[in-house]
Amino acid sequence: MTDRAERHAALLHQRYGDQPKPDNVIWNAVVEAQLAHKSVRTFLPEPLPDGSLETMVAAAQSASTSSALQQWSVIAVTDANLKQHISKTIARTVPTDRIPWIEEAPALLLWVADLSRSAAITRERGDEPVVLEYLDAFLMGAVDTALAAQNAALAAESIGLGVVFLGVLRNAAKEVAEIIGLPDHSFFTFGMAVGRPDPSRQSASRPRLPQSVMLHHDRYDREGFRSALHGYEAAYKRFREEQGMRPKAWKDAVRESGTSLAYMSGRANLRNVIAEHGFKLR
Ligand SMILES: Cc1cc2nc3c(=O)[nH]c(=O)nc-3n(C[C@H](O)[C@H](O)[C@H](O)COP(=O)(O)O)c2cc1C
Repeated sequence: MTDRAERHAALLHQRYGDQPKPDNVIWNAVVEAQLAHKSVRTFLPEPLPDGSLETMVAAAQSASTSSALQQWSVIAVTDANLKQHISKTIARTVPTDRIPWIEEAPALLLWVADLSRSAAITRERGDEPVVLEYLDAFLMGAVDTALAAQNAALAAESIGLGVVFLGVLRNAAKEVAEIIGLPDHSFFTFGMAVGRPDPSRQSASRPRLPQSVMLHHDRYDREGFRSALHGYEAAYKRFREEQGMRPKAWKDAVRESGTSLAYMSGRANLRNVIAEHGFKLR
C-alpha cells in the first residue's frame, strides 16, 4: 500500500472501526480533513494565531445561507475574566465545578441565530417583521448558524487548531444572553471552544454508524438500522475502552438522552427563553 492509501485506510478505520466501509471514497485534501475531525477538549495555553478568527469567519461566511439573509453572528470571547465568568455560569448547571476545556481554550465562540438585523432593517423601512414570528424563521437562523459554525470548525482544523462545539452553554442560555447583551430576535444556539490542541493529551476519533444506517436510497428504510447496531456497539465499546471511559452501550446513551430530564439541565426551559427574545414560534 502507498502512504496515501494507508492514510486513507486509517482514516476510514478511525471513522468506522471494523464495520463495513465505503471503498470508493473520492479522496482529496478537503475530504481527508473532514474525515480526520475529532473534537478537542485539551488546549495549549497560547493565544489564537493572528488571523485565525478572521480565517474562520471568512469560511463561515462562505457557507450557504438561506435566501442570502446571513442571519447569524458570532461573539469571540477572548477576555480571560469574561470567559471564566461564562464557564462558571455553565458549570453551575452541571455536576462539576469547572469545565476545563472552556477555561483552557484561548477563545470561546458564541454562535447566535441572529434575526435582529433583519427585524431592524424591516422596521426602518416602515414594516413590521411579522414573518420573524414564525417557527420557520427561527429554524432558518438556527440552520444557517450551524452551517456557518461547521465551516469555521473545518477551517480551524485545517490551520492546526482544534474545536469542540458546546451545546452545554444552552443550559444557561438566558444568563449567557444577558452577559453578552444579545438583542431581541437573536438566540444563542451553541458555543465553540477553539485553540491549539495539546499534543500530549490527544483523544481518538469517535467511530460513527455505518453508512447503511444514514444513507437511504429513494425511499426511507425504517428497519435497516437494526442489523447494523451490533457492529456499531463493538466500535463504540472499543473507543470508550481506549479512552478510559466507563463501560456504556451506545443504545443506553441514546435511551438516556431520550428519557433523562436531568440530561436537559436548564434546557427544558428553552421555549420560554426563546420567547423572551421575541420569537413567538408560531
Ligand atoms: C451542536 C453540538 C453540541 C455539542 N455540545 C457539546 C458539549 O456541550 N460538550 C462537549 O464536550 N461536546 C459537545 N459536542 C461534541 C460532541 O460530543 C461530539 O461532536 C461527538 O461526541 C462526536 O465526537 P467527535 O466530534 O470527536 O467526532 C457537541 C457537538 C455538537 C454538534
